[in-house]
Amino acid sequence: MLLGIDLTPTTLLDFILAFALWIVIWTPVVALLEYIAHRWIMHKANHLLDPDLSQLRAHGKHHQGANHFDLVDVPLKNCFRLTAPFILGVLAWGWFVGPVSSIVAPLLALLTWCFVYAYLWNRMHRAIHDLEKNWFRRSGPIFRFFMNHHLQHHARARVNYGTVFPWTDYVFGTNASRNFSPSRSVTRSPIEGVNVETATPSPSDPGLLVRWAIRLSELSPTLKKLLWQRWYQHIAGYQEADWKFMNYGYSDEQSGQDPVELQPTDEEDRFAIQLYHRVASATNLDGLDVLEVGCGRGGGASFVRRYHGVKQMTGVDFSKKAVRFCLDRHQVDGLSFVHGDAEALPFADQSFDAVINVESSHCYRSMPAFLEQVNRVLRPGGYFLFADLRASYDCERLHQQLRESGLAILERENITDHVLEALQRDSKRKLALIENSISPRLLHTFLEFAGVEGSKVYRSFRDGELVYERYLLRKTLE
Ligand SMILES: C[S@@+](CC[C@H](N)C(=O)[O-])C[C@H]1O[C@@H](n2cnc3c(N)ncnc32)[C@H](O)[C@@H]1O
Repeated sequence: MLLGIDLTPTTLLDFILAFALWIVIWTPVVALLEYIAHRWIMHKANHLLDPDLSQLRAHGKHHQGANHFDLVDVPLKNCFRLTAPFILGVLAWGWFVGPVSSIVAPLLALLTWCFVYAYLWNRMHRAIHDLEKNWFRRSGPIFRFFMNHHLQHHARARVNYGTVFPWTDYVFGTNASRNFSPSRSVTRSPIEGVNVETATPSPSDPGLLVRWAIRLSELSPTLKKLLWQRWYQHIAGYQEADWKFMNYGYSDEQSGQDPVELQPTDEEDRFAIQLYHRVASATNLDGLDVLEVGCGRGGGASFVRRYHGVKQMTGVDFSKKAVRFCLDRHQVDGLSFVHGDAEALPFADQSFDAVINVESSHCYRSMPAFLEQVNRVLRPGGYFLFADLRASYDCERLHQQLRESGLAILERENITDHVLEALQRDSKRKLALIENSISPRLLHTFLEFAGVEGSKVYRSFRDGELVYERYLLRKTLE
């Protein structure tokens, strides 16, 4: 008897109860086996069994998404192999201790687990990698949760174990998402181990709260959008007139090219401006009507209007406070600001010759909905100038979304190294600014938000987990 349940059942009900109990008992065992299989066999024992590491290399490639068809499936025989010691143990019990009927329920439960595991793993994994459009792919938030979770594992293949089943992570504390984010929402969480000399750790690290908010936002794009909205409304409350940009910047020191010439008053924002300059220089904006979506504190729109010969520049942002700030701060001829949502732009069809979007799209509920709006407000032959960051595993999805936008992709460039260089070179200035103007309670959050050297954002760019991309697209001439 265990928990009042007869382990040598005589009636059908007893048998069903015993079977259910054994399913529960085997659950952590299967989780442990999954963990051992991936961590110790795949990543450790392979060094002994397969000195050339050919298997591991193929697996590693798969982790980076290069060969989607390799090692995607978990064959049933692997599950039997892994559970073999337990199957043999149960059989030995039946043989030596008996009675044989006492092992039917545990044996059947373990075999059921093997089938369920192999079946679920394959279906879910194939759906996640878009090899099958099955029932799991259609499960909405559940699918998104598992997909995010699994892709986080891919992005950190060296330190975690490629599991599809998150409960393994939760049972064994190997959850990659604790230290890694699939999107800006996580990357802009409180930093761990900031090593810039002057940084002083915040006494009340809001990490747990932020992490939970992020987990929830992964489940629902609408919630993600809402959280970003709250965050940018909060930030716009900081009225410091000198703070005009909210991007990670761009630096091209290594290339030896002449940097853009700036007026002394713009010099302080050089790196953030250089990002705009890089994006805006992709085409000639002279004399055009240009829209910037997600203009933030307006510094970029003002720069593009003043330096790129734009006729009329309009900035739009969904933070009302930010728009008010822009209207107060940037009084420049031919420059205006409007409150609005990237996914429902408040402009008539074909109103602009070019649309700029810098480091904002990661906040949106739906990238395709935004691209539809860009397509709508652009005149025929108009340009879409775009730059933003994504988790490395998400870049192909972004590329696909842009390809399917109805606009033609003219240029695609990975500018991560330039962004990293800018983060490095601008770190001390940002630190000083933040320490002077932000309350100690929010210090960590802001240091992370700014991506100062040593922050998680900084390390993610450095380690290739975050990628910054720039694109130039064009609407067809009808
Ligand atoms: C990281 S800031 C970048 C601001 C500016 N582009 C810059 O580089 O300084 C992102 C901006 O996108 C805006 N944003 C986010 N989601 C938006 C949406 N759905 N519609 C319009 N603006 C949005 C935020 O309010 C915020 O100002």
